[in-house]
Amino acid sequence: LAATAAVRAVLARRMDEPGALLPILHELQDTLGHIPPDAVQEIAGALNLSRAEVHGVITFYHHFRTEPAGRHVVRICRAEACQAMGADELLVHAQQRLGCAAHGTTKDGAFTLEPAFCLGLCASSPAMAIDDEPHARMTPQAFDALIHETQG
Ligand code: FES
Repeated sequence: LAATAAVRAVLARRMDEPGALLPILHELQDTLGHIPPDAVQEIAGALNLSRAEVHGVITFYHHFRTEPAGRHVVRICRAEACQAMGADELLVHAQQRLGCAAHGTTKDGAFTLEPAFCLGLCASSPAMAIDDEPHARMTPQAFDALIHETQG
């Protein structure tokens, strides 16, 4: 119910802006942590779009989630400098270790895994972040240790 109220409030405030769809989606994601599937119909109706159009935009931008994130968000840089230093292998390792795909959340809801594009640590790549705390020169072993630590 809180989600429905949030959706209505954002729509009421922004639906008349030109190009309102993206700002509305961003604000909802910031407020709720994700875009609830029920919101699609409501947004589409308010903006005079089809549900497919709204859904298309949500799925096109990987930034938007349709489900709540896990308790911790792990972001692995996939930009150039990190790629050159083994970011792909690190991502594969992370998916295996966590047992979830990129953009996915572990079964226990502890971690969401997201690819990222440059975390500003290019000189110490490959880089990743857990809950916005950056970690440089990552290895699979360092990854496992961090996950273990974060899990507590
Ligand atoms: Fe990975 Fe910049 S390219 S931190």
